[in-house]
Amino acid sequence: MNVKTVGVVGAGQMGGGIALVAALNKFNVIVCDKSVEQQHKCEADHKKRLAREVEKQRIPAADAEAASKRIRYVHVMDFIKDSDFVVEAAVENLQVKKDIFASLVKMVREDVILATNTSSISITEIAAATELVRKGSAARVIGMHFFNPVPVMKLVEVIKGLQTAEGTTATTLELAKLLGKTPIPANDRPGFVSNRVLMPLINEAFYAWMEGVAEPAHLDEIMKLGCNFPMGPLRLADFIGLDTCEHIMNVLADGLNNDRYRACPLLKQLVAAGRLGDKSGRGVFDYSQTK
Ligand code: CAA
Repeated sequence: MNVKTVGVVGAGQMGGGIALVAALNKFNVIVCDKSVEQQHKCEADHKKRLAREVEKQRIPAADAEAASKRIRYVHVMDFIKDSDFVVEAAVENLQVKKDIFASLVKMVREDVILATNTSSISITEIAAATELVRKGSAARVIGMHFFNPVPVMKLVEVIKGLQTAEGTTATTLELAKLLGKTPIPANDRPGFVSNRVLMPLINEAFYAWMEGVAEPAHLDEIMKLGCNFPMGPLRLADFIGLDTCEHIMNVLADGLNNDRYRACPLLKQLVAAGRLGDKSGRGVFDYSQTK
């Protein structure tokens, strides 16, 4: 595999995490976010994380400094052209992703793999946007689904689109391993495996809360202590983002054409109220005192 520089599109929680993991594993990284504010936030978060790794004696100070120097923060997509492999981690919106992939395919070398960190959008549909720009490009588009927090979570779900080439899959599996992750393949169906199974469980927790089966803190404790969840499903929903949870449920309901995947009315109501979870300071639980 000839990947030295990894391009990351989107410097949010996921993109930032992917960039940091790549730099810690000795790849050069170009991380691009059109928001300069987000770019600065990402850089500050990286500094904090690296300092924490040194403080905890998990890495020497020299390694943290070297990792930091390997990351370039940019806000214009053109800089991504120097990448050998690109991971897109922008917002979960099909049109936004299609536009990004159409731009990427014009700017990078023809052998560069274009991966998306989407949690539920069809890889095949994203890839189709590249075919319109350059025929044959869909072969190098693939899903590379990381989990939050990226530096901690071991899994990368690798999703082959309808037209993804075998070589693209092989290189992506290899890169994921070089990032210290365990890649596991899945097919391009709504929610893939992780969200096909996780989201209905989270949605069911909202129903249980709505129906008064237990109050949120008790519901979560039951799942933590009784089922060994590191976080209860409602706390996890806040961590993921309630809007993201609702979006994934919509993808499942539409894609699988089955009403049993419809988002719980209470989940929808919280999203409508702007209670999105950690990122807005309040979701199921209130974080205003902890931030
Ligand atoms: N970035 C990097 N490292 C982090 C981190 C972050 N954002 N958050 C936590 N960590 C690490 C730190 O190393 C920390 O150790 P130190 O304090 O010594 O540095 C360690 O994790 C433990 O963290 P905490 O003590 O703060 O808290 P914890 O023990 O409760 O663990 C957790 C936090 C790792 C997030 C744990 O609760 C957990 O595993 N939760 C479940 C997460 C999960 O299910 N993620 C998948 C979500 S689904 C998804 O991402 C995909 C999708 O499509 C929706």
